[in-house]
Amino acid sequence: MKEEGLLLSDLPAQFELLIETEINPEANSSLEGLYLSDGAYCTQCEAEGFRRITYYLDRPDVLAKFTTKITADKASFPFLLSNGNKIGEGELENGRHWVQWEDPYAKPSYLFALVAGDFDLLEDTFTTKSGREVALQIFVDKGNLNRAPHAMTSLKNSMKWDEERFGLEYDLDIYMIVAVDFFNMGAMENKGLNVFNSKFVLANSDTATDTDYLGIEAVIGHEYFHNWTGNRVTCRDWFQLSLKEGLTVFRDQEFSSDLGSRAVNRINNVRIMRGPQFAEDCSPMAHPIRPEKVIEMNNFYTLTVYEKGSEVIRMMHTLLGEANFQKGMKLYFERHDGTAATCEDFVKAMEDASGIDLGQFRLWYSQSGTPVLDVTTAYDSSAKTFAMTVKQHTPATADQKEKQPLLIPFDIELYAQDGSVIELQRNGQKVDNVLHVTDAEQTFVFEGVNEAPKVSMLREFSAPVKLNYDYSDEELAFLMVHARNEFARWDAGQMLLAKHIKANVARVQSGESVEIPADVIDAFRGVLLNKELDVALIAEVMTLPSENEIGGWFDVVDVDAINLVRDAFKSAFAKELEDELSAVYHTLAQDEYSIDHAAIGKRTLRNVCLGYLALNGQGDELVNAHYAGSKNMTDTAAALGAANHAQLPCRAALMQSFSDKWQHDGLVMDKWFMLQGCNPAANAWKT
Ligand code: PHE
Ligand code: ZN
Repeated sequence: MKEEGLLLSDLPAQFELLIETEINPEANSSLEGLYLSDGAYCTQCEAEGFRRITYYLDRPDVLAKFTTKITADKASFPFLLSNGNKIGEGELENGRHWVQWEDPYAKPSYLFALVAGDFDLLEDTFTTKSGREVALQIFVDKGNLNRAPHAMTSLKNSMKWDEERFGLEYDLDIYMIVAVDFFNMGAMENKGLNVFNSKFVLANSDTATDTDYLGIEAVIGHEYFHNWTGNRVTCRDWFQLSLKEGLTVFRDQEFSSDLGSRAVNRINNVRIMRGPQFAEDCSPMAHPIRPEKVIEMNNFYTLTVYEKGSEVIRMMHTLLGEANFQKGMKLYFERHDGTAATCEDFVKAMEDASGIDLGQFRLWYSQSGTPVLDVTTAYDSSAKTFAMTVKQHTPATADQKEKQPLLIPFDIELYAQDGSVIELQRNGQKVDNVLHVTDAEQTFVFEGVNEAPKVSMLREFSAPVKLNYDYSDEELAFLMVHARNEFARWDAGQMLLAKHIKANVARVQSGESVEIPADVIDAFRGVLLNKELDVALIAEVMTLPSENEIGGWFDVVDVDAINLVRDAFKSAFAKELEDELSAVYHTLAQDEYSIDHAAIGKRTLRNVCLGYLALNGQGDELVNAHYAGSKNMTDTAAALGAANHAQLPCRAALMQSFSDKWQHDGLVMDKWFMLQGCNPAANAWKT
């Protein structure tokens, strides 16, 4: 027995090995292996936790069928759970009992799970498309049953969606979810027995915000979708982590988009890319989505592997189209079901099924860093041609000095002054909106363009890149109104803000004051007053880029200047748009609470308005009334957030009232701690 394992020598070619290990889960505070969470035993084995339970070939390409027998005191641990189907149970002396489980699918040890404890149980069933009935069980801490129904609804929606969109059906007779308070990540996709951080299970309107509800739907979906992309086909080694994670994030994003607002989902995913993921990709932590060296695997569950990994899958989806992509998925499962595969296997299946060459595209797996596109355009009024020159380069990263040009799907659209679409034509033929940028520098010429067009670029964020183009304010204001898709309209607004935030950071640095042109404010006024727009989209347009994202626009991040400029923009919007914000705020009040997407959209925009109005003269009164009148956590949290950000006189009293009401509930109090953590007061450390 060595520190890093058990070494057996002089063995015959074939043998049976019985290992008995004794462990002490009570003393295990690593949240890996078998440990105690609030009186319940539970396990976490990804990535290398199984070795803390017993000696084993603990690597993802070793697949085996597991049978698990659990024996425990029945009064304290009435529920004894593990992967697969229950095949036996019985009573023993001294109040003990046992349960035996068998998982018919061969799996790697990281998908093993065991839970022993006492819970409240929510039960339901789902009938699969081939008519099999699956038992659904959600285990929560005693007393929390009324917070479990949303997770159950989300699970049933996930099962149905995967059948409809991907043709994938669940494969066991039972699906169990256990919510625990002590968990390092969001949740874990153990075969048939998911373990969840309770934050991603428990919700009712008193305790959870709309964002929490949507987060639960996404994470329940994510873990469920892993059953095919992760469990049935797993990873050959941990370098291939993005094989399951990038793909499964892509699937959960599509699930949320199909059930809710596609534009709002895309916007929020892109905010994560442009904020924290871009930051990671130029930091000392920069790594490709398929890393080449790993010291501690736990450090590689990153935004790059997950979120950029999903963008890479999404680019393949863009290049192939839905039909070919689904053909590729089918081929991938035909070839690799029941095995441990690689990212290369996935790309090859996509390539073979579609006949589309992904040779150069593969670089996205091995090259780190964020590519930059510099675009210039030229209109020739006599030839009626419009030329776009696209230069790409990827700055060196800490892990990789040399970079090569990538295949970048670049989605564009041209508009005439009256807002009509100008068809893209080359050699007399209509061409696709998605240009294939492959070289360090390339010019695309379009014919039959009768006037200098306005051009919408990188639509839907068609590639995870930074775009530089010298837009005028007038062009961006035009695109905010006329671009055909909602994402592009939002993005035009963000670019308009970016342009002026950047300019003002420079002004502040050279001692000048912040200046925001009236046309910028007016562009946002137009959006706020547009009755035709989805209110959820208006809320996104009215939300400034995060400080994190703004920081990414500069080589040297001047934190104070960025903070000052961003606050100045908020105050200017609040002041200049006061009447409009106030009108919208008052018309969007709702009597009843429901979590359908229309209601969520209204609350979101109303609370965005509140955030601005809090900065004005009547702010304290308004926020106080909002808090007092709130009948759900979304509005309560919005009032607290507004009071905190605006440093209103009512802040202290509201924080006190909230903690008096919720101090018994750790999950709810996390919101209170979060607000304390981002208290902008100069003396925050003292309060
Ligand atoms: N595999 C989990 C998921 O993506 C994340 C996870 C990793 C959880 C490691 C625990 C430990 O859903
Ligand atoms: Zn995952």
